[in-house]
Amino acid sequence: MTIPVSEGEEWTEERHSPLSSLHDWVYLAREFDHAYRRGSAGGSGKVRSHMKQVRDRLAKILTGKTLVRFPDPAEKPVTAHLRRAIDNGLDGSMRSMVRSMVRAIGNVRSQLAWEYGYERMPRHLQERYAYADIMGPKGPIISPTLTLGLVLFAPRTTYPAHSHQGKTESYLSLSGHWSENDNGVYAPGSIVLNLPQHTHTITTADREPVLLAYAWCGDSDVLSAPGMRFSRRPKTPPA
Ligand SMILES: [Fe+2]
Repeated sequence: MTIPVSEGEEWTEERHSPLSSLHDWVYLAREFDHAYRRGSAGGSGKVRSHMKQVRDRLAKILTGKTLVRFPDPAEKPVTAHLRRAIDNGLDGSMRSMVRSMVRAIGNVRSQLAWEYGYERMPRHLQERYAYADIMGPKGPIISPTLTLGLVLFAPRTTYPAHSHQGKTESYLSLSGHWSENDNGVYAPGSIVLNLPQHTHTITTADREPVLLAYAWCGDSDVLSAPGMRFSRRPKTPPA
């Protein structure tokens, strides 16, 4: 079987492994299911419906003949903060849901491929941000309409304004404290929903890194070409 994934590249079945044989990855995917089932929607119908959408799409992945294809593991400067973020997420005061997911992340840590995703990265961000997909159209767990992943920020980071076209995003907070659009402070266990085209900026606290899980729900053509781009700053009108 040949699995076309993007222009100029083809993945063959020989280069894939069945998800069912990769137990650490199955456990991690199940932790996402658990978090989106047991986490609180805070009384929001929109958050609740997104959580259900994530669970429904994940159920198909977990029960179907899902394949896994690993890119080469890769680190970025910010991954020097990953051990601390994992340690904080395993802290006894954290909710057991968070601890379980962070532990499952620790078990696949050496296989993660951290990347930037943007063609143009502000230089200060190259030291302070990276993400690693867990599941999506390009893998590692191949899933056409649900992308799950991790994003790591160094302390005292501002992640510039961006929005997502054609897909709904949630962040599940796993370690550290952060804010979105200066609207509040989120702690481990928080779920924050960003509807399509909602512009959002993230800031992280002064002393500890922030580790978030993210989920994107969208059509396969949107998720396979996410086109990540920072929003342009509005030009200051001439005085
Ligand atoms: Fe986002």
